[in-house]
Amino acid sequence: MEIISTIQQFCVRRTELSNLGKTLGFVPTMGALHEGHLELMRRAKQENDLLVVSIFVNPIQFNNQEDLKKYPRTLETDMEMLESVNCDLLFFPSVEEMYPEAINDNYDFGKLANVMEGAARPGHFNGVAIVVRKLFEIIEPQKAYFGEKDYQQLAIIQKLVKMIPLSVEIIPCQIVRENDGLAMSSRNMRLSENERFAAPFIFQTLQKAVKLNAVLSPEELKNWVLTKFSTQPEFKIDYVEIAEDQQLQAVTHWNDANGVLIFIAVFLGNVRLIDNMRIF
Ligand code: PAF
Repeated sequence: MEIISTIQQFCVRRTELSNLGKTLGFVPTMGALHEGHLELMRRAKQENDLLVVSIFVNPIQFNNQEDLKKYPRTLETDMEMLESVNCDLLFFPSVEEMYPEAINDNYDFGKLANVMEGAARPGHFNGVAIVVRKLFEIIEPQKAYFGEKDYQQLAIIQKLVKMIPLSVEIIPCQIVRENDGLAMSSRNMRLSENERFAAPFIFQTLQKAVKLNAVLSPEELKNWVLTKFSTQPEFKIDYVEIAEDQQLQAVTHWNDANGVLIFIAVFLGNVRLIDNMRIF
């Protein structure tokens, strides 16, 4: 695996590869890799000539400095995991390399950015858009892979590449779960043993919830989930939303949209976890 940490060096290498006609499949990450990332990478490796991964903990997408400080950094194991999927190129820039000066770009994603993660974490999606655009412009991949656990992020990035526009194809990938159903996330590493034991309750509740749309309205279903969590004192709900799958706006009737998902953000101790499941 080749490791490149400057933009200039990456651009030189990219030009060489593009002259050789190589296609690049890209998986952007903030490190703390897990099986969910590896699934994206295996797919990217399969569908392209070369797999490019970036590891960059993007400070401007954290609206909470404590969260940024606590974000797990596990470079040594990350490298081993990247080797295990035969990653070809790792782009591993410093903050100074990515942001030599302040960036004031302000993206308007409309109502898509005003709900759920956008409402709970002001500035988060703007920070994501800035870094993802910059990474796409440096790497120029043919395809980029994103997990559906961060469903709203995926929708924002799909909108970003249409808005700019950029020629990269965005490939959504299914949520990868632990055997007990917990959605894989770098944040899971921060759960205590007891919290980790309790965490599958999120998946179990969503799984039951998605079967109730025949008997409950969206509002009733949301309240059903809230009631379930109210019996579990270790969880503190940030939001539960039942929303359509395009602009992610809440639905009041099941026939408001052709595709509807349930979304949840919940604190377990001080670790914030998100998950979602399609209802139809
Ligand atoms: O999903 C993530 O890990 C990050 O938000 C991303 C897409 C790598 C941008 O920093």
